[in-house]
Amino acid sequence: MNWIEGKKCSAEDAASMIHDGDNLGVSGFTLAGYPKAVPLAIAARAEKLHAAGEPFQVTLYAGASTGDSCDGALARAGALKLRMPYQSNPSLRKGINDGSIRYIDAHLGKMGYLVRTGAVPAPTVAVIEVSAILPDGRVCLSTSGGNSVCYLEMAPKIILELNTRLGDSCIGMHDDALPELPPHAKPLPVYSAGDRVGNDFVRIDTNKVIAIVENDAFDEVTPFVEPDEVSKNIGERILDFIRFEESHGRLPKGMAYQSGVGKVANAVLCAMADDDRLGRIDLFTEVIQEAVLPLLKKGKLGVASGTALTLSQAAQQEFVQNASEWKKHFVLRQQEVSNSPDIIRRVGVISMNTALEADIFGNVNSSLVCGSAMMNGIGGAADFARHCALGFFLTPSVAKGGAISSIVPYVSHVDHTEHDTQIFVTEQGLADLRGLPTEERARLIIKNCVHPDFKDEMTDFLEYGLRHAKGLHQPLPLDRAFEMHLRFLTTGNMKK
Ligand code: COA
Repeated sequence: MNWIEGKKCSAEDAASMIHDGDNLGVSGFTLAGYPKAVPLAIAARAEKLHAAGEPFQVTLYAGASTGDSCDGALARAGALKLRMPYQSNPSLRKGINDGSIRYIDAHLGKMGYLVRTGAVPAPTVAVIEVSAILPDGRVCLSTSGGNSVCYLEMAPKIILELNTRLGDSCIGMHDDALPELPPHAKPLPVYSAGDRVGNDFVRIDTNKVIAIVENDAFDEVTPFVEPDEVSKNIGERILDFIRFEESHGRLPKGMAYQSGVGKVANAVLCAMADDDRLGRIDLFTEVIQEAVLPLLKKGKLGVASGTALTLSQAAQQEFVQNASEWKKHFVLRQQEVSNSPDIIRRVGVISMNTALEADIFGNVNSSLVCGSAMMNGIGGAADFARHCALGFFLTPSVAKGGAISSIVPYVSHVDHTEHDTQIFVTEQGLADLRGLPTEERARLIIKNCVHPDFKDEMTDFLEYGLRHAKGLHQPLPLDRAFEMHLRFLTTGNMKK
């Protein structure tokens, strides 16, 4: 019997090896490639122990968000003490916002570095979904790279979840390298989206493996929704702008695209697939979303490099069926590499991320509603926003049926400062802020991006600021900065 057979057990047996206070480092990034059976069993164990009056809570690190059978089940069972670095699950979000679950919202590109340097405690158990386990002690990760290599290295104990549904569909897609740690770290020679610098299998210390559990589950990704008119409109504006910049010699061809999470970012990729003037493109991104498949099917995809392949259930099935043909177009990296500032600058990336709200000075809030209620988190957007060659922030001009203006006098929380943002796009228009001083930025955003219902109030705010702010570099009148947010909190509408 080789070491693999000897470690196989049920999810319940594996969960019994997890103890109150453990720190789990799980695989998974944006709903792809996370363990499914063991977290469900841990949640059930937590409920049982709680019913018996015993404490049981764990800290959970992942790559980014995981699916409902991990983040959701553990949150509902009251099994989560602390979560880091990103989430998007409704049950977990509820726990974060009612104060019962602690959450550290961190840059995704930096999480592995924090663990590897000891700045945050290392996981006590790595729980990693894999698609293959070899007798010689190598494993192939599943549908995401995330921080799995880091957690496999740093945790003293390992639980592997072998996803039998994936067959050999993921073999050959991964490039499992980690950057060297400073000082004097040598660069990883990734110059283009398709460059490979590591191996597609990770060698693990088999002595650390305490359990191997099988699952055959799908990543719990919601079905793909065709872009709505507003998102399509934003996508078209971005493509027009890119063509304009290229035609004026300000943007060399051959840049790779990064597209963030959310429906608007998906719409841009769909617009690219439908645009016959656009040649083959590469993606250098973190989440490879479903909208990449139309590009692939139309022969327009060169390489999509990312850390997660986030597909709906139907598309996951399609991918497994066509993997032998399709996977040469994909490279799945560790997130310390997919989100590396060094590599993003070298590859040359056109970055597109979504804002919850932006202000007239160019600051972006993508995580906290009214400055306090967590939506998802900052994700990897800042890794790209600061280091990209050309950066867009996108948002519909209004939310909640027009009650909320997505462009506000001043954001209620800052994820991306005005120093890191370049171009804003709503369905109303596009504002290219590069090279503009503060007042001109504000006037351009109001003119091009703000919904007509809010234009007068925003102009009035700016003029008031120019008369009353302490300084005129950024004419922000503190007494009125959050007027619209406060009105929304009391009346449910930002409109007067
Ligand atoms: N104030 C309050 N709520 C707002 C809002 C605002 N200014 N703008 C949007 N919302 C609400 C929407 O109404 C919607 O609520 P609902 O779920 O109750 O309908 C929700 O926020 C999501 O908005 P939606 O328009 O559906 O956007 P999306 O799916 O494109 O997601 C973000 C937008 C900002 C939440 C998402 O992109 C995100 O989490 N970004 C941060 C992480 C990131 O950028 N990662 C990038 C690298 S992967």
